[in-house]
Amino acid sequence: MGRCPECGEWGSVVEELESREPSANGPAPDLQPLPPLDETACGRLSTGLEEADRVLGGGLVRGSVLLLAGEPGIGKSTLTLQAAMLMATHTDVLLVCGEESPTQVAARAGRLDGRSERIRTLADPSLPAVLAAVESGPDLVVVDSVQTLYDPAIPSAPGSVAQVRECGSRLARAARDRGTTLVLVGHVTKDGSVAGPRVLEHLVDVVCAFEGDRGDGVRVLRALKNRFGSTQEAGFFEMTGRGLAGIRDATSYLLADRCPGLPGSVLGAFVEGRRAFLLEIQGLVAPAGRQMARRTAIGVDSSRLPLLVAVLQRRLDLPLSEHDVYVSAVGGISITEPAADLAVVCALLSAWSGAALPDDLVAFGEVGLAGEVRQAASADRRLAEAAAAGFRRAVIPWNTSAEAPAGMTLHRVRHVRDLLDSLGTSELTGLRNPLQGTAARASNT
Ligand code: TYD
Ligand code: MG
Repeated sequence: MGRCPECGEWGSVVEELESREPSANGPAPDLQPLPPLDETACGRLSTGLEEADRVLGGGLVRGSVLLLAGEPGIGKSTLTLQAAMLMATHTDVLLVCGEESPTQVAARAGRLDGRSERIRTLADPSLPAVLAAVESGPDLVVVDSVQTLYDPAIPSAPGSVAQVRECGSRLARAARDRGTTLVLVGHVTKDGSVAGPRVLEHLVDVVCAFEGDRGDGVRVLRALKNRFGSTQEAGFFEMTGRGLAGIRDATSYLLADRCPGLPGSVLGAFVEGRRAFLLEIQGLVAPAGRQMARRTAIGVDSSRLPLLVAVLQRRLDLPLSEHDVYVSAVGGISITEPAADLAVVCALLSAWSGAALPDDLVAFGEVGLAGEVRQAASADRRLAEAAAAGFRRAVIPWNTSAEAPAGMTLHRVRHVRDLLDSLGTSELTGLRNPLQGTAARASNT
């Protein structure tokens, strides 16, 4: 049925197989104590890619099942092929080529400048063939992609929820039973719903998301779920002519294109896992014309932007109701932490006033609805990263316990109002004057 008769939505009906016979009570179950810890069995296989190993917590755990999810074109096949080539030098790797023919994979491997001849390939993504290949004993099986797997016993098309769920779970069970490490590549669309990998999330051990813009920006690998490690770490990659290259020093990479001295721009300090990095936040305020004023956020939390605009309207009397407000995090990384708030506010104040902020300034901190500035975690690492990158001034929450790194001045702010004073009259007079002008304009009318 194409359309749900209940809600009228198209394409939302999911096929379920009827269970053939009711299950009866089985024989008495065989209950066992937990087996003793076997250190070698839970050893890790390094992927050979430092950034990927960082996200996984040191590599793929032997016998575990990983789902690598991302939009089409983000680089999942490239990432898995690069890792597979590096791992094939010392482990037995099987690649199930559902999307591309083995010849196409070989051509890609040639471009990636790696050695692919030790990788065994299977061009038939039918479940019986893949299960038989798992039985043949490889250490690592990569399935690209899970949407191409199909069980001939299920009438629905490959990629349907019924096929993805059934094939994914059968394959995961077979891999676990044999101690084979399994990597399932799955496509997701922007809203993460269609195409089905979400139905696999509960039955795999690790879910990694590969995201970013498909242009030149940074591509970020994150663990959304990890039964064997933290989900805090992120791996940064850039797509080059020879495949994906890890970005070790994210700050220099992200700041390479920065033009100093522009109004509406400020550096924020962020953390992903154990790593801190600086990223430029830009703001733009423009008259809205006749339409409803727009608030658009790219790369920063779009639900927090209207909130921050409202704080500026109410706490600083900025008349933004007839202005479009845009905020963008430069470089393709999405920032979700509320510690971005203070940088967003600084960028908007600077954009509004037309006064550029000092080039050697970074800002971080959460902003509350009353305009108060709240602490951000790992302040010391953010400050250390800023100091190492040559920044001399930081606007931070007032109750941050971290000390100033050598050569850096800290401006502690309690409230967004303090931003106007905290940098001293010289730097932000540009900000203050238009605001006073605004207040004067408001009281005159
Ligand atoms: P791909 O790994 O095929 O994406 P996915 O499997 O997630 O759909 O890679 C997508 C893009 O990467 C593709 O549009 C071309 C680009 N690319 C490069 O820029 N350099 C390279 O060396 C490779 C292999 C791909
Ligand atoms: Mg692919």
